[in-house]
Amino acid sequence: MAGVEGGVETVRVELGARGYDILIGEGLIGAAGAEIAARLPGARAAIITDDNVAAHHAPALAASLEAAGIDATTIAVRPGEKAKSFPVLEEVVDAVLAARLERGDAVIALGGGVVGDLAGFVSGIVRRGMKFVQVPTSLLAQVDSSVGGKTGINSARGKNLVGLFQQPALVLADTAALDTLPAREFRAGYAEVAKYGLIDRPDFFAWLEANWRAVFSGGPARSHAIAESCRAKAAVVARDEYEAGDRALLNLGHTFGHALEAATGYDSARLVHGEGVAVGMALAHRFSARLNLASPDEAARVEAHLAAVGLPVSTAQIPGALPGPERMLDYIAQDKKVSRGALTFILTRGIGRAFIAKDVAPAEVLAFLQSVMEPTMEPGAAR
Ligand code: GLY
Repeated sequence: MAGVEGGVETVRVELGARGYDILIGEGLIGAAGAEIAARLPGARAAIITDDNVAAHHAPALAASLEAAGIDATTIAVRPGEKAKSFPVLEEVVDAVLAARLERGDAVIALGGGVVGDLAGFVSGIVRRGMKFVQVPTSLLAQVDSSVGGKTGINSARGKNLVGLFQQPALVLADTAALDTLPAREFRAGYAEVAKYGLIDRPDFFAWLEANWRAVFSGGPARSHAIAESCRAKAAVVARDEYEAGDRALLNLGHTFGHALEAATGYDSARLVHGEGVAVGMALAHRFSARLNLASPDEAARVEAHLAAVGLPVSTAQIPGALPGPERMLDYIAQDKKVSRGALTFILTRGIGRAFIAKDVAPAEVLAFLQSVMEPTMEPGAAR
């Protein structure tokens, strides 16, 4: 494969006619043109990216497309979550139409989760649906958001409330792109890697406990962790594409995590998504132990691993003041569907034994939060 050093691993997302390959390896951006031309012969392309990622990777991607005879236009948005908004969506849609791209042409997302979600949504709505290719450049995007077809933007009423399922035709995870990631962002993405072990792959979790340093340093261990994560996600997506059931398992740690993100005003200086997921996974295990579903030793093991890699595992580690437990429960109830007074949570019977619990009593959650949040953060504390 042109421009690729070392081995490339392929993970297939089995979705019948909408199935696709995830390729994982060093230097894949340089091979993008050949891979896309092989799957979408004759297609032209729009590369949607952000200014930061464009500076690092857009020239290599554009050159690779050109070498494969793919005519491409690059559309760069400002970095950050604000790109997932109606005004930016309108700008990008207009730019794709101005480039006279058609239904058989490709929208290529080059970047992290924000760019992937925005570009995927654009590809789903322009001309009633164009082809879509993901070239994720963050660890979080490579192991989670680029796989499975969730796309969309935020509304003033909440995150990811406007969007659609739009599966890509191809995902190219160039592991060399991770070399330019800030350490904090890589670590935050690692929370999603560990999540797959905790959901249903206990052997993978044990492997991560033994090999996380090598995963952080790069090389074959890192590629293996990404491929294993993609295999785990692909398996869940293949059995429940539209989240009617099992796909909700992928939200392990996200109920507490989303509430913490909302409670910190989505201020990335205080908490980024993966850090919220890390605290959320630690809390989900501790909560499961409190409910006598899992052993406290396993909850401690989860915390020990996340803490070893430098991720936060308790609310006390989040800088700045947090609302008290009652307000946190409100955030949780806003995030989740509350069915006849019960909350749906992803709980666990131990490492690799997560399950969907649809009948969690809000009073149990409140008592748990009161037991794990700092005494200074009592209900009614001024925020
Ligand atoms: N990130 C959760 C999902 O794709 O379902």
